[in-house]
Amino acid sequence: MAKTWLITGTSSGFGKELAQIVASKQDTNLVAAARKMEDLNYLDQFDSNKIKKVIIDVTNQSEIKDAVSKAKEKFGTIDVLVNNAGLGYFSTIEESDMDQVRYMFEVNVFGLANMTNAVLPIMRTQKSGVIVNLSSALALTTLPTMGFYSATKYAVEGYADTLRQEVADLGIHVMNVEPSGARTNWSGRSSNKVVPNISDYQEFGNSIVHVSDSVTGAPGNPQKIAEVIYNQIEDNEVIPEHLPLGQFAYEGGLGNLENLISEIKSRQEISLSTDDSLLGEKYEL
Ligand SMILES: NC(=O)c1ccc[n+]([C@@H]2O[C@H](COP(=O)([O-])OP(=O)(O)OC[C@H]3O[C@@H](n4cnc5c(N)ncnc54)[C@H](OP(=O)(O)O)[C@@H]3O)[C@@H](O)[C@H]2O)c1
Repeated sequence: MAKTWLITGTSSGFGKELAQIVASKQDTNLVAAARKMEDLNYLDQFDSNKIKKVIIDVTNQSEIKDAVSKAKEKFGTIDVLVNNAGLGYFSTIEESDMDQVRYMFEVNVFGLANMTNAVLPIMRTQKSGVIVNLSSALALTTLPTMGFYSATKYAVEGYADTLRQEVADLGIHVMNVEPSGARTNWSGRSSNKVVPNISDYQEFGNSIVHVSDSVTGAPGNPQKIAEVIYNQIEDNEVIPEHLPLGQFAYEGGLGNLENLISEIKSRQEISLSTDDSLLGEKYEL
């Protein structure tokens, strides 16, 4: 039976690339979600029998419920959920606008959780499914002015690593994709930017001023990224838990994690000194 993919944020970037790949395959159905129906006109070139266009703002529970029920009605299942919709934010921590930061958390973290909760009952019933989260290289390492964006993606990592354990016995896989900078609208119209006013942070201003307002010259190729994501789900016996993509994710992520491992190891004595008794076979909190 054909697998059904539901992808959020298919108006542009990774979501649009992935939607076109799924739509072009014989044996996959596509539920393409966007905030505006007209943004999905590009799908009209594909077989409409295997495509359902739906409106989803991931912060809107009733749109999510309605879209998931329409998808289920048309295709009977949802086999792959791609939590792709997301925003960026460029600012030093101290100068960040907390309303904008809260909204980014609504989309990047709670929106992703809203979608997952709407689809999990279907996947639990069918005892199979894959949940793909567009995390970021900035959930493996960090950069000045990207702190609150990283915080949303680190939140996604902690959420997903826990969910994976809870649903593993139900036949449901959870894959986090951690792309490096790629040529989408993410750092353009999908990001608010606050150039530092505080003189102590002037050195970080350049990195924000030079962020393009449109598609950047970042090395990541969105089409290649979408192809890798598709192939890891459809052509791979073992679905990865993590998929770091691009040099920054690979080298920056490894460097940061190696530092963390070495720091944890160097604190072994003090770390183990704070328990009253030695740990048994299992951790107890
Ligand atoms: N490009 C990168 O360098 C990069 C690197 C690592 C991770 N990521 C992540 O990749 C994901 C996709 O971003 P992208 O790079 O493809 O950027 P993009 O081209 O700007 O696409 C972002 C998508 O998210 C949608 N979206 C924003 N807010 C939404 C909401 N409230 N509800 C539903 N959809 C919403 C946008 O829809 P509208 O058109 O309606 O605004 C758009 O379809 C994001 O989660 C981003 O954080 C990007």
